[in-house]
Amino acid sequence: MTITALIVAAGKGERLGGGTPKQFRTLSGKSVLRWAVEALVQHPAIKTTRVVVGPGQHPQAAEALAGIDVGELIEGGASRAESVRNGLVAIEGDAVLVHDAARPFCPTDVVDRLIARLEFFEGAAPVLPVSDTIAKASEILGEPVDRNGLVRVQTPQAFRLDGLRRAYANWSRAEAPTDETTVLREAGMKVAMVAGDRALEKITTVEDFERAEQWLESRMVPRTGMGFDVHAFSGEGPIMMGGIEIPHSRGLAGHSDADVVLHALTDALLGAAGFGDIGQHFPPSDPQWKGVSSDIFLRHAVDLLRSNGAIIDHMDCTVIAEEPKVGPHRSAMRARVAEIAGLGLDQVSIKATTTESLGFTGRREGIAAQAVASIRMTPIK
Ligand code: CTP
Ligand code: MG
Repeated sequence: MTITALIVAAGKGERLGGGTPKQFRTLSGKSVLRWAVEALVQHPAIKTTRVVVGPGQHPQAAEALAGIDVGELIEGGASRAESVRNGLVAIEGDAVLVHDAARPFCPTDVVDRLIARLEFFEGAAPVLPVSDTIAKASEILGEPVDRNGLVRVQTPQAFRLDGLRRAYANWSRAEAPTDETTVLREAGMKVAMVAGDRALEKITTVEDFERAEQWLESRMVPRTGMGFDVHAFSGEGPIMMGGIEIPHSRGLAGHSDADVVLHALTDALLGAAGFGDIGQHFPPSDPQWKGVSSDIFLRHAVDLLRSNGAIIDHMDCTVIAEEPKVGPHRSAMRARVAEIAGLGLDQVSIKATTTESLGFTGRREGIAAQAVASIRMTPIK
């Protein structure tokens, strides 16, 4: 069975408000749309993933989905149902998983359950029980509705593609259906229920958005990275350390500006996230990094982590040198590092020590720096 995922992202997000439609808002560095698409793209049973976007939303969607293969974007319509219809015309395969972009987190096992039911049913949907009292509402509270046998229906919903197309062709009511199970049932077809998941809650209001942020944060795990760097004294000063210029009789040799503090911090951040090391990102063999300010290395690591949803909690660096004395410059270095990394002063620490005249730093041949970075990020699947 060839399965296509169809993600509808053509809405305006009016109930959430705030200008940018919710599917393009970022949750922990990643757009809601990207979260939703990534969750399905990586499922082994899904062959193709396609995305429906609103008129004029193509550039935003392309940016949000950079690097993910979703084929050509499909143009949506005025209602969700119209967007789905447009998608059904454009896609191929034996079965389709229709999913709201506004549900960023889709557990793999929900998809497994849905697909398993397609063998026996024309459609399947994830549902959750209703646990609150349900009542009609007008100006005052109206009649309670018996919640026994009621469920909340989520997406993704799985269908045989020809069955869903036939069901939509059969839909003759004036109002647009709010999901596909409604359309299938209207056409007399059977829809199976599978266990839904709280992670699949749709983002509709500001409260939902905040809940999604909290949920993500609660899943983050602390991680630590370390960095180490050495540069040899050579030629005349000044030297660059911690992003500031420090007057000194001797300079430091290096391909870039030889800032041991920023190099060690950059490696600590990259290490914490498991994103390689500074040499991989900025090869010393590449002439474009010759003589550059190391601010850009640290900034790059910070941006890379944040765009992958990481939160940087703290960075600590120890400079190992007999000379120059770090003490008088420590506050300025701390402030500059915090500025480059977009952190508070309290999240950056700079310390210094000598090696009691022992070793290469003790012989005043060069300067070393060690750094540790503490971050939080969602586990990388
Ligand atoms: N959707 C769509 N085309 C539309 C309307 C909605 O593809 N014309 C999509 C939304 O992008 C969303 C899903 O359908 O992923 C569920 O719709 P909803 O939560 O109502 O999103 P919006 O319509 O964007 O929000 P609102 O109703 O608050 O404006
Ligand atoms: Mg809507």
